[in-house]
Amino acid sequence: MEKLVIDGGRPLSGTIRIHGAKNAALPILAGSLLAGGVHRLENVPNLLDIGVMLCILKGLGCRAEQQGETVTVDTTTLASSHVPEDLMKQMRSSVFLMGPLLARFGYVQVYQPGGCAIGERKIDLHLRGLQALGAVIEETPETIVCRAEQLKGADIVLDFPSVGATENIMMAAVLAKGTTTITNAAREPEIQDLQHFLNKMGARIIGAGTDTITIEGVTELKACHYSIIPDRIVAGTVMVAAAATRGSVTLQNVCAPHLTSVMHVLKRAGVQMTVCGDIINISCAGRPKAVERIVTSPYPSFPTDLQAQIMVLLALADGLSIMKETIFEGRFKHVDELGRMGADIRTDMSSAFIRGVPRLYGAAVEATDLRAGAALVIAGLAAGGRTVIEQIHHIDRGYDHIETMFARLGGQIQRFSPVEQIIP
Ligand code: EPZ
Repeated sequence: MEKLVIDGGRPLSGTIRIHGAKNAALPILAGSLLAGGVHRLENVPNLLDIGVMLCILKGLGCRAEQQGETVTVDTTTLASSHVPEDLMKQMRSSVFLMGPLLARFGYVQVYQPGGCAIGERKIDLHLRGLQALGAVIEETPETIVCRAEQLKGADIVLDFPSVGATENIMMAAVLAKGTTTITNAAREPEIQDLQHFLNKMGARIIGAGTDTITIEGVTELKACHYSIIPDRIVAGTVMVAAAATRGSVTLQNVCAPHLTSVMHVLKRAGVQMTVCGDIINISCAGRPKAVERIVTSPYPSFPTDLQAQIMVLLALADGLSIMKETIFEGRFKHVDELGRMGADIRTDMSSAFIRGVPRLYGAAVEATDLRAGAALVIAGLAAGGRTVIEQIHHIDRGYDHIETMFARLGGQIQRFSPVEQIIP
């Protein structure tokens, strides 16, 4: 298996362009199935998860290809609404293919997505939303089949502002008869991007970004050309790495308003930042300060997808910080790995108590999931000595060659495949 080798202790510096958002591109690629024709999507990142989604679209009969950061999807030949099991298992977020396929065909079969390293990842809110629109759902331990002669608009209230459930219901409702409202909807920027994409196809949706979204059903949608928003989580990851290595970095192609809660925490940690349009300059000359309490919550609060990364900065801070993870029940798997590098972090259920240490030390560690892996890269860049990270396929799901990104900023980081020798 490939590994990353990092010789840390150097401040990052320079300029980096942030790629498009994985968590906007995936639902938008699923939404492309709602219209026959050729879609052209720009600013799509080159990631494992995007590759899996393109394979699924091809498996359903579409033509789909990515050249650089441009994806072309021709859904004219879409012929199936049976998502292949092996691909479903590779990427659980293919669960939001249910909405568009049900809307297009009145039938969809998917496989139980199962949990993952960070938690159970239930989909009951997705299924209840589709049922409210008139779908009949049959579940077995392996499969989920949804049928609907004609989806009908409904007033849906989500028990929790689930990102995926909000997206699935939006995509099912755009071709339903009548109007649908989603109350307690997720407010993430990726939901707003999906609304903009679907409206460009001819849908009639308002309210994305607020907790109430209204979808007026239409009879037909058209393929379109669309550009994906920047990835706020990748941007946040780079910002934390710049601070943790006491560097000075300029980020381009960033939407600062999507990072308000993250920049608030970084400021409390003593990090300097300036914003000019889609550029953020960030630097941290001295040791970061502890942040008394950070709670992950749905947008616009502090994002769970940056919890592992910010923990590395806090592990180097002067004092005790407390992090509470409220979204996923299994998202502290990076704590043990950071402990191998000298971090002093104790966890109790959903809280982590991070007592800052003056420095971290390179070690052999393992990525357990996507964002935990990104956190270990930051730790390796900040630590003295050499860090070797295994299981880096997790990281490749959400970062386009993370080693290239940080090497461009002066990081001593290289990817090795099993056959290559590691230079001592
Ligand atoms: C999306 O996952 C993101 N993934 C996640 O990013 C992100 O962490 C998450 O939203 C929260 O912001 C994509 O967009 C592809 P949820 P999703 O539905 O839609 C529970 C990353 O690192 N829940 O908002 O799966 C669920 O168990 C990934 O890029 C139900 O109980 O998140 C979880 O505890 C990780 N029933 C919580 O809600 C449901 O029907 C949040 O889930 C759905 C969710």
